[in-house]
Amino acid sequence: MTARLSEQLQSKIAERLAFHEDLGTKLFYRERSVVTTRVAPAAEPFDAALVNQEEEPLPKQKRQATPVAVVGAQVYPEPRGNAAPHLATQSAIDAVLFSAPSKTSNFFASLKTVPNDSLLKIREDIGECQRCRLGKTRKHIVFADGNPKAELVFVGEGPGADEDASGVPFVGRAGKLLTQMIEAMGLQRKDVYICNVVKCRPPGNRPPEPDEVTTCSPFLVRQLEVINPKVIVALGATAAKTLLETETGISKFRGQWLDFRGKKLMATYHPAYLLRNPPAKSEVWKDLKKVMAELGLEVKKNKPA
Ligand code: URA
Repeated sequence: MTARLSEQLQSKIAERLAFHEDLGTKLFYRERSVVTTRVAPAAEPFDAALVNQEEEPLPKQKRQATPVAVVGAQVYPEPRGNAAPHLATQSAIDAVLFSAPSKTSNFFASLKTVPNDSLLKIREDIGECQRCRLGKTRKHIVFADGNPKAELVFVGEGPGADEDASGVPFVGRAGKLLTQMIEAMGLQRKDVYICNVVKCRPPGNRPPEPDEVTTCSPFLVRQLEVINPKVIVALGATAAKTLLETETGISKFRGQWLDFRGKKLMATYHPAYLLRNPPAKSEVWKDLKKVMAELGLEVKKNKPA
């Protein structure tokens, strides 16, 4: 007889697996879609209790930042006939974007820039994307939300069920916590730009597979190039590992200033992880205060979130 795990046990296992992923410890079970959706306790506010934590000295940067790619003049073939580059076919677009088709340690440096790129062009290039298997199960492509001229960009992992249904990133429970975090910084969602590593929901909220990340990340890089923010905040292990091209666990380098193609990058824990592990909010708040200092935002003592 096939023994079935109880719903409660399945939730516990899913929660534990997600906990390890957020910490960046080795994945020991890849496919979670058959377990259940993650169950997290009710959202707690990102609150003032965190604000007065003593700042720890900046830890020594262990991982050398990804080398800054020279984003200079690139060979970009003229479009044939009257076709605008952004109206080209998927394969033509991809041939232009990639100089190397596989993800290497210098993957992002190998990506070519698109002259006169714009968010509109990027969205048009994505089109009704079927480049990877996520296209088959998604409801909506979740492109981004917020201010195209933002100085601060948050990069998450990928859409969940709420985002897939609405087409807007970070609108579920983790999204509500992210909104509180942004507001605790004295900003509003409309002041920042919010996007994800992959633009389609991985089934069952599993982490995106490496080939899905490789397929989708050229669009993320283009978004970051167009926005050209002062600071990028990578939310959680997937965003951090993707942008920094590292297998090192996020807990080893979160809170340190790192580099992504010449832009300052701060990796911190994902809000979904904070929902499962509220004490980590104080670590995230320390990271966000560094971001605020970099952006010249005032850190108010006893400021309620
Ligand atoms: N988690 C993410 O990483 N991104 C979203 O858009 C929502 C939840």
